[in-house]
Amino acid sequence: MQFFIDTANLKQIEEAKDLGILDGVTTNPSLMAKEGITGQDRIYGHYKAICDLVDGPVSAEVISTDYEGMLREAHQLVDIAPNIVIKIPMIKEGIKAIHSLSQEGIPTNCTLVFSAGQAILAAKAGATFLSPFIGRIDDTNWDGIALIREIAEVYAIQGFDTLILAASIRNARHIVESAKAGADVVTCPLPSILGLLNHPLTDIGLAKFLSDHQKAESKA
Ligand code: G3P
Repeated sequence: MQFFIDTANLKQIEEAKDLGILDGVTTNPSLMAKEGITGQDRIYGHYKAICDLVDGPVSAEVISTDYEGMLREAHQLVDIAPNIVIKIPMIKEGIKAIHSLSQEGIPTNCTLVFSAGQAILAAKAGATFLSPFIGRIDDTNWDGIALIREIAEVYAIQGFDTLILAASIRNARHIVESAKAGADVVTCPLPSILGLLNHPLTDIGLAKFLSDHQKAESKA
């Protein structure tokens, strides 16, 4: 399973990269706004800075909601760096755009996916990645992980190549459950990635090893 970080914060991207486990980055307009990045020049410059930091795929989302606008943005975005992936919303015009970009060999990430039916449509259109939003489904009292499992089952039966990218991850448990459910990629905020490190018995065990070592050394 690949690990992407879901942020536009360069320091957090560097911290995840330093762990040696980072395969890529996803962003969205809300995450760019959170970093205070506004205006096309600054936004594109920020994508370039992210692409310079990581070798793997970097998802950059279009703002247009019409087919022509999405294609125009996609062609501008792919010129930023060779590892840019065009993130496109799951709407009718988006499916048309994903199909055209797939014919051109431009990688896409179909975002805002909340059902298996949407997942089938995106795969048929040739999406490279599919982003079901687990946390937001859980927020509505439905089961986000069950959706990952259902999509993985459908894709396996049908032999679709589209990679399932579990998004809207809110905690470390979501990462484990996504892995069990068949996600190919998880994109996570940094605290969820770091949350994987935590277990109280690790901390207690390490403290005991170190204190036993110190006691033995002081007696020697
Ligand atoms: O990758 C999509 C993700 O950024 C959405 O996460 O926490 O806003 O639902 P969230």
